[in-house]
Amino acid sequence: MSTARAHSNIAFIKYWGNRNENLRLPVTGSISMNLAGLDTTTTVEFDETLADDRLLLNGEEQTGAALDRVSGHLDYIRAMAGFKQRAYVESENTFPAGAGIASSASAFAALTLAACDAAGLDLDERTLSMTARLGSGSASRSVPGGFVAWWAADRHEDSYAETIAPPEHWDLVDVVAIVSTEHKAVGSTGGHRLAPTSPLQTGRIADAERRLAACRQAILERDFEAFAEVVEHDALMMHAVMMTSQPALIYWTPDTLRLIEAARAWRADGMPVCFTIDAGPNVHLMTPAAYADSVAAMAAALPGVLSVRRADPGGPAHLLVEPR
Ligand code: PMV
Repeated sequence: MSTARAHSNIAFIKYWGNRNENLRLPVTGSISMNLAGLDTTTTVEFDETLADDRLLLNGEEQTGAALDRVSGHLDYIRAMAGFKQRAYVESENTFPAGAGIASSASAFAALTLAACDAAGLDLDERTLSMTARLGSGSASRSVPGGFVAWWAADRHEDSYAETIAPPEHWDLVDVVAIVSTEHKAVGSTGGHRLAPTSPLQTGRIADAERRLAACRQAILERDFEAFAEVVEHDALMMHAVMMTSQPALIYWTPDTLRLIEAARAWRADGMPVCFTIDAGPNVHLMTPAAYADSVAAMAAALPGVLSVRRADPGGPAHLLVEPR
C-alpha cells in the first residue's frame, strides 16, 4: 500500500490538442506552475481478493466513467509491473469537487506515483511524468516541482515534463477567482479532440515555440511585464481556438470577461497582475506575493465572484511514506 500527494498546476503556455490522442502526445509543449495547497492525496493498495478495481473519491464510491479512466490507467501500470491484481484506490482533494479547479492533473500525478510504488516499480521522475501523461496530459506537469515545462514529441518516451525553476525561484501567487462551480459541459479530453476543427489552431501551433521561449525567459528572469504579456496572449489564443472549433466551446461567462477587464485595468494602473483561464469560466490572476492580498480582495469585491483561493508555487509529487 502506498500513498502519494501531488499539486494541481496552472498552465502559462497551454496544452490544447493532441498529435496522438491515445498516448496524449500534445501538438505543442506547455509551461506551468504547481499550485501548493491545491492537492490530491491518493492511496493505492493492490489486493488479490478484489474482482474489480474500486475507487473512493472524496469519500464517495465511484462507478462508470471516473472508475473506467482510473482502471485504464492502472492497467498500464499493472502491465509495466507484470501482474493483474485489482486495486483499492482512495483519493481526496483539498479543494472541493466542483470548486472550478481542475483536479485531473493532481489526481493522475498522485495516482501514478502511488500505484507505481505500490506495484514495486522504482521509476525515475521522467518515467513517472510520461506515465502520468497517459492518464491526463497536464498530470505530466504535476510530477516535477515548481515551474515546469512539458516537451511535445512524437514518441511516448520523449514527451515528459521537467522543472525549469524550483518553487522558491519566484514568489508568484495564483489568486483563483471562482465564478462558477458547475461541471463543464465539455471536458478537456473532448476539447483536445475538437482543437483541429478550428482554423485558428494552425496559427496557434505555428507560433508556439516563440511563446514557450518568451515565457521560459520571463520566468527565469522574473520579468513580470514580459510574463504577463505572453501568458495573457497564450490564454486568449487557446480560447480563440475553443470558440472557433466546431462545435464551438465557449467557456467564458460575463463574470469571466469582467475579471479579464479588471486585470487589464489594474495592470494599466501599475499593479503587477495578469490573467489566465483554463477550460472553464474561472479566472486565475497571477501576481507577485507582495500584491496577492490586494488582488484577492479586489477580485472578491467584483460582482459574480463566489470565492477566491490562493496558491503559491508547489513542489513535486511525493510519497507520504518511505518507499520500500
Ligand atoms: O490534461 P487535460 O486533458 O485536463 O488538459 C488540460 C487543458 C488546459 O487546462 C485547458 C490547459 C493546460 O495546459 O493545462
